[in-house]
Amino acid sequence: MTILIVATSNPGKLREMQAYLKDTGWELQLKPEELEIEETGDTFTENACLKASQIAQATGNWAIADDSGLQVDALNGAPGVYSARYGTSDSDRIERLLRELGSEVNRKAQFVCVVAIASPDGNIAIQAEGICPGEILHAPRGDGGFGYDPIFYVPDKQLTFAEMTPELKKSVSHRGKAFAALLPQLETLCPFE
Ligand code: IMP
Repeated sequence: MTILIVATSNPGKLREMQAYLKDTGWELQLKPEELEIEETGDTFTENACLKASQIAQATGNWAIADDSGLQVDALNGAPGVYSARYGTSDSDRIERLLRELGSEVNRKAQFVCVVAIASPDGNIAIQAEGICPGEILHAPRGDGGFGYDPIFYVPDKQLTFAEMTPELKKSVSHRGKAFAALLPQLETLCPFE
């Protein structure tokens, strides 16, 4: 089996990525802990490609990276690519977002995810994007998932991400949609000896 290094140290993302990739025939390995790539890009695409490419080159293996975040309309798209750096813990980030939104009536937001796969020489072989529209609640609801899940409400399902089963989140989420677009491309890649 060909090794695919998963370039994340976020346990929530790792869990979801492992579930999406489980029947693909790749041997997933977690990136070495000391290999931290700085997210210097201004877009999700730039950061996903940067992470995949640098981890691939550093390890000499194929690598997959996801860059994702939450864009809130009334905050002009913030926190966006800074979603992870918006606070020091999930509850801190949620508190800050709710404070900044205050009593704003426009609660529209979207989660965006870009996934990129790089070959061992660092070239990007595949990339895919997924978007999930929703709304920011006034207070957290549910205790599943990770990150901003408890305040991200999907009107179609009348649930927050944190109230969904992993299967339901997979079928509607930004990451689920990005992987649904990525997997058929991954099959055609097939670098197996
Ligand atoms: P990054 O992709 O490592 O820059 O991190 C993105 C950040 O966005 C994460 O740390 C989370 O705070 C947030 N995020 C991304 N995807 C999700 C999700 O599916 N649910 C909740 N928060 C998410």
